[in-house]
Amino acid sequence: MPKTELHLHIEGTLEPELMFALAQRNHVNLPYASIDELRAAYDFHNLQSFLDLYYAGAAVLLTEQDFYDLTWAYLQKVHSNHVVHTEIFFDPQTHTLRGVPFATVYQGIRQALDEAQAQWGLSSRLIMSFLRHLTEQEGFEILEQALPFLHGIDGFGLDSSEKGHPPAKFEQLFKRCQALNLPCVAHAGEEGPAEYVLDALHLLKVKRIDHGVRSLENDQLLKQLVADQTPLTVCPLSNIRLKVFPSLKQHPLKQMLDMGLMVMINSDDPAYFGGYVNDNFKACTTALNLSDQDIVQLARNSFIASWLSDAEKARQLAKIDQIWQAWKLTG
Ligand code: HPA
Ligand code: ZN
Repeated sequence: MPKTELHLHIEGTLEPELMFALAQRNHVNLPYASIDELRAAYDFHNLQSFLDLYYAGAAVLLTEQDFYDLTWAYLQKVHSNHVVHTEIFFDPQTHTLRGVPFATVYQGIRQALDEAQAQWGLSSRLIMSFLRHLTEQEGFEILEQALPFLHGIDGFGLDSSEKGHPPAKFEQLFKRCQALNLPCVAHAGEEGPAEYVLDALHLLKVKRIDHGVRSLENDQLLKQLVADQTPLTVCPLSNIRLKVFPSLKQHPLKQMLDMGLMVMINSDDPAYFGGYVNDNFKACTTALNLSDQDIVQLARNSFIASWLSDAEKARQLAKIDQIWQAWKLTG
């Protein structure tokens, strides 16, 4: 089944094997003796414990080639998962604060995205994400550095530590982003409360909410999300690894789908959370007893919520319908 991925941090696709290879290539010391020891450290108790490791791991990324290799490895994986379109986040501040120029990060990622489009017709959008644990002023500074590259940047996002860093902190920055005429999204309602989802919609004027699972705690908000068909880019395995829900069986994905919310399945940081998009589909199908119809709906939603053109969406949705009809005939 063709599908898109709409919530993916490129730094979160850094597999331990590549992390070790880049550490060696760049003469960076890692505080782990082996790949197995590193993997054993992927035992997170909340978002922050993951972010600490994720930012430490990103320290091996120094050159344009590193960012290319990282992105290319991800694209190869999702190409084999029948992902035909991906909208990926990159966190430039994670790198510029270590002295890596914005251009190095951007150009390495961009080259890999362009090659995937040329080789496989795998289309993409690139979303520049602001780190919310930093100040709004630092957000303005990185936006300034991004201006020469805006022709290749398709939108803005907001990620990192959610609790204590509400959307209101970035209201002026997102006003500036809106003025640049690029769509905005924000992580909200992952660990933070439903009010952060409301504020991301109303103060930051975002087009999509990343995660948004804690919207279930506010009935009024749920009604609004269903009525507006606001996409929520749900990441099931991520939510389990970061202890947002105790187990996949208790994950609300199926409930959200049945309520008519515009949800789809994404991998978030697949190298850290135990799988890419198809691994998420398989795990959810088993744990939540998803029907074939549910799976088709999730794939359809991934296109509807994407930033593809209306014509391309229609083409892909027709393809899904065709596959679905043929599947039903074979029983
Ligand atoms: N939440 C917030 N920030 C992030 C995440 C996430 O799941 N992954 C990478 N940065
Ligand atoms: Zn995320």
